[in-house]
Amino acid sequence: MSTPCITLYPTGQKLPQVGMGTWKLDKNLCEETIYQAIKMGYRHFDAACDYGNEVEVGLGVQKAIQENIVKREDLFITSKLWNTFHAKEHVESIVQKQLKDFGLDYFDLYLIHFPVSLEYVDPSVRYPPGWAYDGKNDVRTANVPLQETWTAMEELVTAGLVKAIGVSNMCGGLLVDLLRYARIRPSVLQVEHHPYLTQTKLVQLAQSEHIAVTAYSSFGPLSFRELNWDSANEAKILFEHDTVLKIAQNHQRTPAEVLLRWSTQRGLIVIPKATDPVLMKQNLEHIQFDLTEDEIRAISSLNINLRFNDPSDYLSDSKRLFIFA
Ligand SMILES: NC(=O)c1ccc[n+]([C@@H]2O[C@H](COP(=O)([O-])OP(=O)(O)OC[C@H]3O[C@@H](n4cnc5c(N)ncnc54)[C@H](OP(=O)(O)O)[C@@H]3O)[C@@H](O)[C@H]2O)c1
Repeated sequence: MSTPCITLYPTGQKLPQVGMGTWKLDKNLCEETIYQAIKMGYRHFDAACDYGNEVEVGLGVQKAIQENIVKREDLFITSKLWNTFHAKEHVESIVQKQLKDFGLDYFDLYLIHFPVSLEYVDPSVRYPPGWAYDGKNDVRTANVPLQETWTAMEELVTAGLVKAIGVSNMCGGLLVDLLRYARIRPSVLQVEHHPYLTQTKLVQLAQSEHIAVTAYSSFGPLSFRELNWDSANEAKILFEHDTVLKIAQNHQRTPAEVLLRWSTQRGLIVIPKATDPVLMKQNLEHIQFDLTEDEIRAISSLNINLRFNDPSDYLSDSKRLFIFA
């Protein structure tokens, strides 16, 4: 079965509504997982410099292309600009490196990963650089305004290195500001989105501006429990929430399918990460049923504005930025 697509503005590209994430995808499993995912029917992959596995994800993509399972143009591959490369002189060279790592000529979509500029770390010193300048705990912001970075992102489109550009982890105010100066508009906004963090106004704003919204960490605390984060350990697992369980029972579906459908039925794109082939297939095919309006409302009412991936947690106290609300 083929996945429905969202048509991106202004490029007209077709973005499959169900993709696969690659954050925390073990390097040793990447090539085979991505290869099997493509064989299963996945056509959309979400990657990033920061995930540290673009070489291995790329090997899976190359294998599928070499075996004529897909052509490059059948795939939609997203990657992201890391915080340390926001200055205009670093943007193109880091994309060139990421494309080389992947074995690709272009990315279908390239996002600013966070609206937070950090001091440059040369890839020969440490790659991926992560949040801290010293690789430990010294987080240093850099004086690079977003407009400079966005202009450099636009030049990537002109140079043919990326087909579309977008943003991630951006709040409404920054998005409105970006739209004032964008020569090429953002096609996609990628944000944390699950029943504990519905971001209703932000999603409405983006969709009203024809910016497609990709939801990440659709299962809420689950992904962050892998990192043993307190906020995730303290939150009730969504798969065990009575509301989600009851709706899953109504449809004879798993809680994971219900959580994904709650997003896709409202026009969002989802990119769950899975390594188990049974779960990968379940995620890809979750669109075969519909929730009722009441069920969608009941899931949305679980919102408690609980953000797990909060960049202000990564910045030291003196540099805390509360720019994501
Ligand atoms: N832009 C950003 O700042 C940002 C931040 C976070 C994530 N992302 C992107 O979004 C993607 C998805 O988010 P995420 O990785 O945080 O988490 P996620 O997809 O919400 O959750 C991943 C976890 O759910 C499990 N899982 C997957 N499908 C399942 C199913 N059907 N039933 C039960 N468990 C299932 C996975 O298991 P196994 O893997 O063990 O099989 C893994 O433990 C990332 O991989 C990344 O590409 C972007």
